[in-house]
Amino acid sequence: MDLKYVLYSTEDGIAWIRLNRPDKLNALNHVVFDEIGQAVAAAAADDDVRVVVLTGSDKVFAAGADIEHMSKGTISDAFKLTDGSFRIQESLADIPKPTIAAISGYALGGGLELALCCDFRIASETAVVGLPEINLGIIPGGGGTQRLPRLINYSLAAEMVMTGGMVKAEKAERYGILNRVVPQDQLMDEVKKLASKLMSKSSVALRAAKTAMRKGLNVSLKDGLHIEQDLFCMLFGTEDQKEGMAAFLEKRKAEFKGK
Ligand code: COA
Repeated sequence: MDLKYVLYSTEDGIAWIRLNRPDKLNALNHVVFDEIGQAVAAAAADDDVRVVVLTGSDKVFAAGADIEHMSKGTISDAFKLTDGSFRIQESLADIPKPTIAAISGYALGGGLELALCCDFRIASETAVVGLPEINLGIIPGGGGTQRLPRLINYSLAAEMVMTGGMVKAEKAERYGILNRVVPQDQLMDEVKKLASKLMSKSSVALRAAKTAMRKGLNVSLKDGLHIEQDLFCMLFGTEDQKEGMAAFLEKRKAEFKGK
């Protein structure tokens, strides 16, 4: 991988994708998106990776799309940028492993939109989230008008999208955007604790759970229930289902193999 603005590493089953463009507060342009895409693909392909964490620095998660770059853009430039970012966001949202956004500082615009592609958002008390695009005479173009109202109450999402206001960590947790907020110095421990809990589960069952929830969000309840039924029944063909139920009956801890 040839990365300039993103750091990628793996350790103890976790893939760390760290945005690293400090002089521009991790602003996202097509190069950054492309690099996130490379890192996501590497994490997806690596069987040793069980959980993916997307993060920034202590100061900033990401302050959104690169305004300097966009300021000179045409309609076709905007399509090109969003085609690229859309592809990357979908690949992050669809990765069949649990994903955690670890947020410190600003997660604005495209930064928040990337975090919304993750299954969990754990933040430090310094986190500030928002979709300020309306202040630039545009609207969110990376899923903000779609993923946020699907995640939280419509009126709260509408207030964020239409006023462009910034929302501090504690309020964002109350809104349901953040799973939880912890002191800055405990953020990574909290993320590792969640990752470790997830890694103790069956990876095939986690994959099925994620697929059922993600696909179910976009279909009728009836169709969603059928998706769940198929995945539920499919799991009875796995070793992990036999192991999980045997362990319960034998009053011991299950040892899942992801098979
Ligand atoms: N795109 C491009 N550059 C950005 C940026 C963005 N989204 N966000 C910050 N930067 C740059 C600033 O231009 C500045 O660069 P410079 O030092 O070369 O002038 C540098 O990052 C530091 O930002 P600065 O504004 O000085 O930091 P701050 O701490 O005073 O304010 C923010 C932080 C996040 C409140 C402010 O930078 C901001 O509002 N950014 C834009 C957020 C936004 O609208 N995002 C949605 C884009 S669609």
